[in-house]
Amino acid sequence: MVMFSYSTDPPADARADLLVLPVLEGPEAGPGIREVKGADLLSLYTDAKLRGKRGEHLLIPDTGALGVRAGAVLLVGVGPRSSIDADALRRAIGKVAPQLAKRGSVVTTFPQAARRSHGEAVQATVEGILLGSYRFSRYKSGLDGPVETDALASVTLLGPSRWDSRAMKAAVRRAEVVSDAVAWARDLVNTPAIDCTPDRLAREAQAMAEETGLECTVWGEAELKEGGFGGILGVGAGSVNPPRMIELVYRGGGKTQAPIALTGKGISFDSGGLSIKTTEGMEWMKGDMGGAASILGAMKAIARLKPKVNVVAAIPSAENMPSGSAIRPGDVLHHRGGKTSEVMNTDAEGRLVLADSLAYLTEQQPRVIIDTATLTGACMVALGDELFGVMGNDRSLIRDLLAASEAAGEPAWELPLWPTYRRMLDSEVADFKNVGKRYGGAITAGLFLSQFVGDTPWVHLDIAGPAFAEKAQDYCPKGGTGVPVRTLVGYVLTQAGAGTSRR
Ligand code: BES
Ligand code: ZN
Ligand code: MN
Repeated sequence: MVMFSYSTDPPADARADLLVLPVLEGPEAGPGIREVKGADLLSLYTDAKLRGKRGEHLLIPDTGALGVRAGAVLLVGVGPRSSIDADALRRAIGKVAPQLAKRGSVVTTFPQAARRSHGEAVQATVEGILLGSYRFSRYKSGLDGPVETDALASVTLLGPSRWDSRAMKAAVRRAEVVSDAVAWARDLVNTPAIDCTPDRLAREAQAMAEETGLECTVWGEAELKEGGFGGILGVGAGSVNPPRMIELVYRGGGKTQAPIALTGKGISFDSGGLSIKTTEGMEWMKGDMGGAASILGAMKAIARLKPKVNVVAAIPSAENMPSGSAIRPGDVLHHRGGKTSEVMNTDAEGRLVLADSLAYLTEQQPRVIIDTATLTGACMVALGDELFGVMGNDRSLIRDLLAASEAAGEPAWELPLWPTYRRMLDSEVADFKNVGKRYGGAITAGLFLSQFVGDTPWVHLDIAGPAFAEKAQDYCPKGGTGVPVRTLVGYVLTQAGAGTSRR
């Protein structure tokens, strides 16, 4: 556990093992650099042939002559002055976070490098450090060499005395809560499917709910049958690990206030079912519950930050396996609410489980519904692996989610729910087929989901690309990323009027 604090001490006076100072591209001195009088830090940085590009860093291990109280100084590039916002700081400090993790105590002027939105800069700096030092070592035995552990115990963020200390402390706390939620979502995604069955996922959710005070109901097979959840049961029918639906309720608003409704695809493993995938296609499919993990993470953060809104989540979870009891191409499933779908491809399973949870949430007359899902490879073809796709039936909700994604530094782009493509889902025997043609696959998947929300304002986030990092990123090692936990939490806080203060 790292303790974060906020202080207005001058950087040269701060006692710590490591003083971290930002350098702007040029290089130009960032805040605190000129206050170190014993040496020209910027020349040392330039002599090392560094220019201040994001993450370019120089460690000065011996501070004897520098006139600072810290044991060492780390200079870190944050990129060009014109592009320094909270996200640039999160990415720059995230890149060096594994090195900070080896020190006992760290102090930094990082947030002062952003000229506006000080609260956001403080929050982003803390998030960069916490998210960038995340590791998933649960399955390392230690027999194959030492398992890396963190030494970092305290981080002090330095700001000028004109900043509102209370607001900055609130920003630190927000970052801690959000980063903990992201780390949990990453853990769930990284946990192999053998240890993360639908039932285990439900137990994790129950334990979280108990700890945070959320209401939690787990729907087992009998309840799902009783409730008419044919999509969830159908997808789970081929597995020995039975399906579940996890319902979580957070009450922070008035009794009569309509809730924000959330759902996320929780396929604990996607083999494709009888429409089986290739070996390569299955490599990361333990991560096909990334949508569910992001909703669980968001609910955990919401429960701890206590915004003044009501939020309900219904998360469908099943394992998509081929077997004698699996659903077959041509089978017809009866969804919650009565609509039917003809399963032409058992690998298009995410939409089948979400159809049920979307229909169920719509019954509760929420103000909006947001779903997040590792839904289509087609979305990755369209947008690559950094952006998630945004589709929906309500312009202002789409705009709100795009704004939340930008503020969180989790980039997204809108795709159209083009109405004439709906024809591709026409079925001879049921209300619709579960797949369209090859082209426009992300859109036809979105159109399929849209059939289950009626007139409720709804937005769908296709996170197939960014849910899982195939190579390490600025503040995320290879594996589950926790996207879009921060977008969801940001959206909910903004709706509650408790968003990050702008100044
Ligand atoms: N879980 C996959 C989508 C996916 C693929 C996510 C790669 C992340 C990385 C989904 O269930 C799936 O198999 N989709 C099919 C749909 C097709 C059968 C219409 C796909 O994208 O190929
Ligand atoms: Zn899937
Ligand atoms: Mn699939």
